[in-house]
Amino acid sequence: MELINRHNLKDLKELFNSKYYEKILIVGGNQSFYKSGAAKLIRKLTKNKKTFLYLKKKKIPEIYELIKLIKEIKKFKPNLIVSIGGGAVMDLAKISNCMTDIDEIIPKVKNNSYKISKKFCDIIAIPMTAGSGAEVTTNAVLYIGKEKFSIESSFIKPNHMALFPHLVINNKKKKIIHSSAFDCFAQAVESMFSLKSNEKSIEYSKKSLDLFDNNYKSFVKNKSFEKGYLLSLASYYSGKAISISKTIAPHAVSYPFTSFFGVNHGYAVSITFDGFLKYNYENISKSKKKYDLNNRYEMLFKFLKIKNIEELSNKISEIKKELSLESQISKINKNIPKKIDLIVDNVNVQRMTNNPVEVKKKDILNILKKTM
Ligand SMILES: [Fe+2]
Repeated sequence: MELINRHNLKDLKELFNSKYYEKILIVGGNQSFYKSGAAKLIRKLTKNKKTFLYLKKKKIPEIYELIKLIKEIKKFKPNLIVSIGGGAVMDLAKISNCMTDIDEIIPKVKNNSYKISKKFCDIIAIPMTAGSGAEVTTNAVLYIGKEKFSIESSFIKPNHMALFPHLVINNKKKKIIHSSAFDCFAQAVESMFSLKSNEKSIEYSKKSLDLFDNNYKSFVKNKSFEKGYLLSLASYYSGKAISISKTIAPHAVSYPFTSFFGVNHGYAVSITFDGFLKYNYENISKSKKKYDLNNRYEMLFKFLKIKNIEELSNKISEIKKELSLESQISKINKNIPKKIDLIVDNVNVQRMTNNPVEVKKKDILNILKKTM
């Protein structure tokens, strides 16, 4: 069930009241769960139910916390898992519901042979950031050490999702909210350029971009319920788009920034976003030609009411400024410029296969140098 209206409380109550959902395991963020009003909402929804609360401690979805959560699920045996939080909470809960062989996870994820063939129980995702779209995607991110893996399966997608904008606007972690908002924009744009994009994903991208572009400024200034709702909807559509198309180079390069330096996901994506859009544009003639890359850029320009690549670059700068995202990596973390090779060496170039133009390590290095 997808509850994407402004007001979902009545429908949510009905869903939770189902007699099938007697035991409910809740996964939330360590601090955000109480501060944002999620605890209050869950109390309302789970009256007369047996519940178990797991609060995520680590900033990113990582293997040892995942194993801990899987053990709790096996012990408690819920009929429903509620993941209520940002992208990391949703990813952790989504994977924990699908991976049962604890001993097999590390070796099999590493050699890409873990087969997901079922899920433990139903799961509902209620996002507390407007950005990742993780409530509707068929994949989830997992870190083993500093290495990022994408766990993909139709079982990963939550059975149910609900937008509940009060939680987004009560989320006081400005850095996370702003980083997530950029993720929403980046995903919608990257999806448009992915070699796996199709008519449907482009339609979702356009819906997401339209909602984002018309509302992000006022969302930043005044986190009203209405703007929180519209940004949540933009995020929902960006999730729908990348579920089909996956993301391209800026996402692929973002992960070492997160795993080695703790940069929030959307912020990390923003670092090379402009650089790669320019790189792809400058290399249109070398594009892989699954679609007309020039036409795709024209479509984006028209849609964002801009004329050319320079104006696109200005537009990206404007969005980053509004979201208080720095463009120079030394301002994000002064240690990053000294460790650029570490970033480049830890980008999996094979994961860039959806990018419309081939990207080599030297290209990544050139793009990163421009952010120093
Ligand atoms: Fe993302």
